[in-house]
Amino acid sequence: MNRSIGIFDSGVGGLTVFSAIRRALPHESLIYLGDTARVPYGTKSAETVIKYSIQNAHFLAQRGIKALVVACNTSSAYSLEHLRKTVDVPVIGVIEPGAKAALAKSKTKHIGVIGTSATIGSNAYARLLKEYEPNARVVSLACPLFVPLVEEGWTDTEVTKLTAKIYLESFRNENIDTLILGCTHYPLLKSVIQEVVGSGVALIDSAETVAESVKDELAKNGLLINGNARPSYQLYVTDLPARFEAVALNFLGKGIPPVKRVEL
Ligand code: DGL
Repeated sequence: MNRSIGIFDSGVGGLTVFSAIRRALPHESLIYLGDTARVPYGTKSAETVIKYSIQNAHFLAQRGIKALVVACNTSSAYSLEHLRKTVDVPVIGVIEPGAKAALAKSKTKHIGVIGTSATIGSNAYARLLKEYEPNARVVSLACPLFVPLVEEGWTDTEVTKLTAKIYLESFRNENIDTLILGCTHYPLLKSVIQEVVGSGVALIDSAETVAESVKDELAKNGLLINGNARPSYQLYVTDLPARFEAVALNFLGKGIPPVKRVEL
């Protein structure tokens, strides 16, 4: 029996990762959980984020997964080690692939990082970037209002543009050449963010790199699917599905399965 890849986030943001994995591994079945009843994670304490992440992992593990993808930077920053003790399948986070992708892209090694208050507070990106590249100069900034805007589906409104301008204008003086979108919700705001920081700054959306890491991890463990199986996709949320479904439809296109509401 072929098992699925389990993916979770606090809400719709992890769909950016879901979509990249679907492209990279078109025959693998995927189960996604968006913890929409408790979004945002990024304003909560480490203990709470860890507790929610473990509950999400249990839910997915009960459905027989072969790998767990933590498609949430906030959760990746705090709970990877806890999740590795919770489930007996490979656990893949988003921070390491994002940091590596940024260093590969940046010429000057002057790198900006934006994320939730919890992710930026954890210093996880700055620490890793400096570990890989001691000469890196890292400027970090929390942008907490971006997550509710994306959850609302407001990816291109005047309010969103103004919010991005207020948050990000300071980056113009920092001389960065690369900006890590250190929250999986932020790629949905890519064009708004690019407009404010200018076309000279490369935006790093770690979804593609994460998908490559998932592929490598499955290959390493002999877990890649054989042949051209028809994949199945399951989407779950912990609160009303309607708004999630609208964003998912917009983002993943037609053919997404009905979104089911579950209790954890
Ligand atoms: N998308 C998540 C992240 O990457 C969580 C955002 C939130 O719930 O605050 O950090």
